[in-house]
Amino acid sequence: MNVSFVANGIDDCPVIQLDKHTRPNGNITVVEDNITVPFDIRRVYYLYDVPGGEERGGHAHRNLYQLIVAASGSFDVILDDGKKRRTVSLNRPYYGLLIRPGIWRELNNFSSGAVSLVLASELYDEGDYIREYSDFLREKRSV
Ligand code: TYD
Repeated sequence: MNVSFVANGIDDCPVIQLDKHTRPNGNITVVEDNITVPFDIRRVYYLYDVPGGEERGGHAHRNLYQLIVAASGSFDVILDDGKKRRTVSLNRPYYGLLIRPGIWRELNNFSSGAVSLVLASELYDEGDYIREYSDFLREKRSV
């Protein structure tokens, strides 16, 4: 078992204030690997066109680190480490939520037009997912 999977808790998932370059003609926010986030960025994906009332996520990752940004609009991320739950509201493109391995997450409360930008430490690997909450709890408690 990956040690960080077991050890990481929701308090290890900070909301990071990202670099923001403000100009009268528009703003830029920058994320750099191993500077802004503690991992190499190997994959970028974005979630959009989420119908009102829909939920996403509902899984954990064994090894993956992610930074989640509300690039547009807003949504909530529920974090769960098997002991505690916490809801983080993301609603600005210059804040990013760092999610470490071993954290169950659910995304809901999407505003119209919300875009969830995700920077990830690994390429897509279905084998890295835990999609059943009961499996997550069992793996989390096995030391
Ligand atoms: P998933 O990560 O389960 O979505 P969410 O957490 O937003 O609910 O991904 C849904 C599907 O999309 C997954 O079964 C396969 C595909 N997918 C890829 O092919 N590559 C990717 O990088 C991602 C994130 C998803």
